[in-house]
Amino acid sequence: MTVYAIIGGTGLTQLEGLTLKDSLSLDTPYGAPSAPIQRGEFAGREVLFLARHGHPHRFPPHQVNYRANLWALKQAGAEAVLAVNAVGGIHAAMGSGHLCVPHQIVDYTWGREHTYFAGDIDHVTHIDFSHPYDEVLRQKLVAALQALGHPHSSHGVYAATQGPRLETVAEIAKLERDGCDIVGMTGMPEAALARELELPYACLSLVVNPAAGKSSGIITMAEIEQALHDGIGKVRAVLARVLVS
Ligand code: HPA
Repeated sequence: MTVYAIIGGTGLTQLEGLTLKDSLSLDTPYGAPSAPIQRGEFAGREVLFLARHGHPHRFPPHQVNYRANLWALKQAGAEAVLAVNAVGGIHAAMGSGHLCVPHQIVDYTWGREHTYFAGDIDHVTHIDFSHPYDEVLRQKLVAALQALGHPHSSHGVYAATQGPRLETVAEIAKLERDGCDIVGMTGMPEAALARELELPYACLSLVVNPAAGKSSGIITMAEIEQALHDGIGKVRAVLARVLVS
């Protein structure tokens, strides 16, 4: 049976329902991951869990050691990765509480350690990244969302921005013109690094606010936290459903 790793984002620094067996403090050639990897049983199945921002939440999106995180998960035995992220909604269908299983990414991040093919290496592999997410995993997430009846989009283009600040209205208008539906700060380089390690990877995005300019007011942390609080149970249920499928 495939060993799944779950990468929890903001609002999911701990996986409630995980019966912990070990906490693995691993080191990697890229440094330490954000937190020890938790190995345990979730929905009756062995899983690995990693809090992307650390537990408690310590690393902002541009300071997450994505290379160490993915490397450590692979070292711990992960064979597929389900990543959870909180996002802002750009497309009208992406209201707060909506869940999206993106099928494409546009990368607007900069200055992050974004590849394993760096430094003193004797070859560079240009990975194919036409379809950044693993379609089998995506379909498992979509099937779980359908079975649970949660409002969702089975496709969407994820704009990965640098953060930690939120975007301007003009930036969101530009992302919309670029064809992006949701915006978050952690989708890249995580997806590309997983591909470099040949780890099938898909993500489940929870919309926690309308993106800048998509509502009449400004974006507050209180609204984001409320949407996370309200939505994280659905996320957990979807993950559990995928694991038993
Ligand atoms: N923009 C970028 N990242 C985010 C947002 C947003 O509006 N909401 C949650 N993560």
